[in-house]
Amino acid sequence: MKIAPSLLSCDFAKMGEEIEKMDKCGADYMHLDVMDAHFVPNLTFGAPVIKAVRSYTEKPFDVHLMISEPLKYIDDFAKAGADIITFHAESDSDISKTIDKITENGIKPGLVIKPNTPASAVFPYLDKLFMVLVMTVEPGFGGQSFMADMLPKVQEIKAECAKRGLDVLIEADGGISTSTIKQAADAGVDVCVAGTAVFKAEDSAKAIAELKAIAEK
Ligand code: DX5
Ligand code: ZN
Repeated sequence: MKIAPSLLSCDFAKMGEEIEKMDKCGADYMHLDVMDAHFVPNLTFGAPVIKAVRSYTEKPFDVHLMISEPLKYIDDFAKAGADIITFHAESDSDISKTIDKITENGIKPGLVIKPNTPASAVFPYLDKLFMVLVMTVEPGFGGQSFMADMLPKVQEIKAECAKRGLDVLIEADGGISTSTIKQAADAGVDVCVAGTAVFKAEDSAKAIAELKAIAEK
């Protein structure tokens, strides 16, 4: 199981140092939540901030775009140093064009689905995707409760990939903790985003190690 700490829960006054710290704590990816106060009712940061903190680690930047028109901004996030860009199937941008734009920039594309969106929404694009992100909370805020009823979607996507011989990573985002990660792992999740569970822990390295150990039991 890979762990992607969500910087949404970090101390923004020290974002670079927080990234450095997560690198040392054993994070696999840095998960960066971009929100536009339109697609979701919250506002965070954009490409300039990501660019400013890019040099603090060599670990991949997993940029989660919760914005209405991702296609317009792919070049900006590419230039800022994103390695993986995930965007929402429910956004206003054309899904195929957005995936192609990400790939043309030499970045790995991922498609995200909100809790009310069925797994089948990603099926037409699976052969072009590096990752599918299944939201296990409504996007917008950290610290919400895990929706275990999203896990059948993970299984459906896994099964579809297996049927078609595709190797697409499945990421889960929202409410991941020591009490929920085992269910996610058993459903076939490959990467878990964790904000609260990692940043609010007294010892983040221990928290990441524990999450991995429980997932792999
Ligand atoms: C929510 C974000 C998540 C969030 C997860 O919209 O996409 O990445 O930070 O936070 P926790 O782990 O606290 O649920
Ligand atoms: Zn996220």
